[in-house]
Amino acid sequence: QMKGAIFDLDGVIVDTAKYHYLAWRSLASELGFDFTEADNERLKGVSRMRSLDILLEIGRLEFTDAEKLAMADKKNRLYVEYISRLDEAELLPGVRSYLNRLHDSGIGIALGSASKNALFILDKLNIAGLFDAVVDGNKVSRAKPDPEVFLIASQELGLQPGECVVFEDAEAGVAAGKAAGMRVIGIGRPEVLGEADIVISGLHEL
Ligand code: G6P
Ligand code: MG
Repeated sequence: QMKGAIFDLDGVIVDTAKYHYLAWRSLASELGFDFTEADNERLKGVSRMRSLDILLEIGRLEFTDAEKLAMADKKNRLYVEYISRLDEAELLPGVRSYLNRLHDSGIGIALGSASKNALFILDKLNIAGLFDAVVDGNKVSRAKPDPEVFLIASQELGLQPGECVVFEDAEAGVAAGKAAGMRVIGIGRPEVLGEADIVISGLHEL
């Protein structure tokens, strides 16, 4: 019996991966190399600084920590410009009706995301009010596949891990949910999300 539902943000509630991609690609192009959509797959579910490390690895470039912080900042400013234009129309199919259904059945709803922009995005999508707990990149110190983000979310809902179900689109996120002792619904392709208890293509399927 599910008492709490914990959602990843990027790729589950909204497709922000395309904006992350545009922002990282623009940074790469300034640094003089190409960054493809296939490369971008490696950044899904990965923190901002780790994403930058992967990007620089692809470009075979090295920088000091201070330079890297400045680059990550620059990428984020561009990303925030994109997401400040988000609105409800960009909610992925089925999200609002599924959240409403959970809410009406008294199920706790939490966000478990690595993004430091999570609250801003929930506001833009006009769904912040539906969440009983928001655990984002500002609250968490260990990145997925570490279970920390989901364990804090279940605590904030006042529930045991085993009472919660995680919704995830990234391999590292599925692993984090399983490591937390939760059931995991993978959103995406079974080839990538094999560790999940079931895999669906989106919340509209539920
Ligand atoms: C999510 C996304 C990643 C992103 C990370 C940090 O996990 O899937 O692509 O890098 O959040 O997001 P932020 O908004 O803090 O840069
Ligand atoms: Mg995701």
